[in-house]
Amino acid sequence: MASSPAPPSDVSAPRPLPKAELHLHIEGTLEPELAFALAERNGVKLPYATEDELRRAYSFADLQSFLNLYYALMAVLRTEDDFADLADAYLARAKEQGVRHAEIFFDPQAHTARGISIGTVVNGLARALDRAQENYGISTRLIMCFLRDESAESALTTFEAARPHLHRITAVGLDSAEVGHPPEKFKEVFALAREAGLKCVAHAGEEGPAAYIWEALDILGVDRIDHGVRCMEDERLVARLAAEQVPLTVCPLSNVRLRVIDDLADHPLPAMLDAGLLVTVNSDDPAYFGGYADDNFTAVRDALGLDEATLRTLARNSFRASFLDEATREKYLKEVDAHQA
Ligand code: ADE
Ligand code: ZN
Repeated sequence: MASSPAPPSDVSAPRPLPKAELHLHIEGTLEPELAFALAERNGVKLPYATEDELRRAYSFADLQSFLNLYYALMAVLRTEDDFADLADAYLARAKEQGVRHAEIFFDPQAHTARGISIGTVVNGLARALDRAQENYGISTRLIMCFLRDESAESALTTFEAARPHLHRITAVGLDSAEVGHPPEKFKEVFALAREAGLKCVAHAGEEGPAAYIWEALDILGVDRIDHGVRCMEDERLVARLAAEQVPLTVCPLSNVRLRVIDDLADHPLPAMLDAGLLVTVNSDDPAYFGGYADDNFTAVRDALGLDEATLRTLARNSFRASFLDEATREKYLKEVDAHQA
C-alpha cells in the first residue's frame, strides 16, 4: 500500500546523528494519511471527515485524553498487511531521522480485545522488521507491552498467547494509564518473562510518582525505565539510577504534548544529564506528538541550548542503553564518533 511518504532527503540538510530509538509505540506512528487509507481498505468508518479534522483532534489535556484517541484509531488495524504497512512506514521515516536501531513497542491487548489474534500482529510487524536491515539499514527488536489499566490476569493470558512468538520478542514492557496502576500489580507476569529469558522495561514516573520507579526496579527487575522524568523528585532515587546507570528513555515532545512538562524550555533533561543519569531521547508516539527521533533531538537542542557534544552523548547513550549485542553496539558507537553533519 502507498503509505504516507517519508519526507524527501535534502542533500543540503545536515545529516542527522546516528541513533537508536528505544521508546517508540508502533501504534503511535499511525499517521492520519495511513489511518484513512487503512480505514478505506478495511471498510472501517472513522468519526472524522478528513485528515485535517483528525489532526485537529491532536490536542491533549493529559495521558488519558491521548490514550482515548490512540486506542480508538487502532480500529483501522486489522490484518497482517496493515501491521506490516504500519511498521514499514515508520522505518522509512526513521531512516530519514538517522535511526540505525529501533526497539519497538507494541500493545497486543489493544488488538486482541478487538478480535485480532496476537499472531496477526506479530507476524505482520515481523514481516516489515525482517526486511528493515536490507531496506533501510536499520536493526530492530520487538518489545511486547502489557496494558497496566487491564488486569494482571489479562497480562498473564497475553503472555501465554505470545509464547509461540517469543523468539521474535526481546523484552516485555508496561504502558497505558499509569496513575493508580503500580508496577507491583504485574510482578507475576514479569517474573515469567524473565524466566523465559526476556529483558524487561516499564513506563514509570511519566505521570505516576517516583515510587513507581522504585517498584519497577525492585519488584519487576526492569533493565530500563521508560520516561522516568519524575525521578528528579527523589534524590535517593536519582543517586541509585546514576550509580547503577539504569537507562531512562525520555520523550521530550511527548512530555510537552501530554502536559507532563509545561514548556520544553523547562524540561529536566539537562538536570538529568548533570546528575549523571543514562538518559536517551526518543519519540514515544511521533504521529501524535509532532516529531520523530531526530525532531526530538532538534527540539531539545533549540529549546534547551544543548551543544554538539551533549547531542553526541545522547546519541551514544541510545546505543549504550540498547539491547544490542556488544559487537553491533561498538559498531554503532564508532559511527556516532565518526559522524560529521
Ligand atoms: N502508550 C502509548 N504511549 C504511551 C505513553 N506516553 N505513556 C503510557 N502509555 C502509552
Ligand atoms: Zn511510551
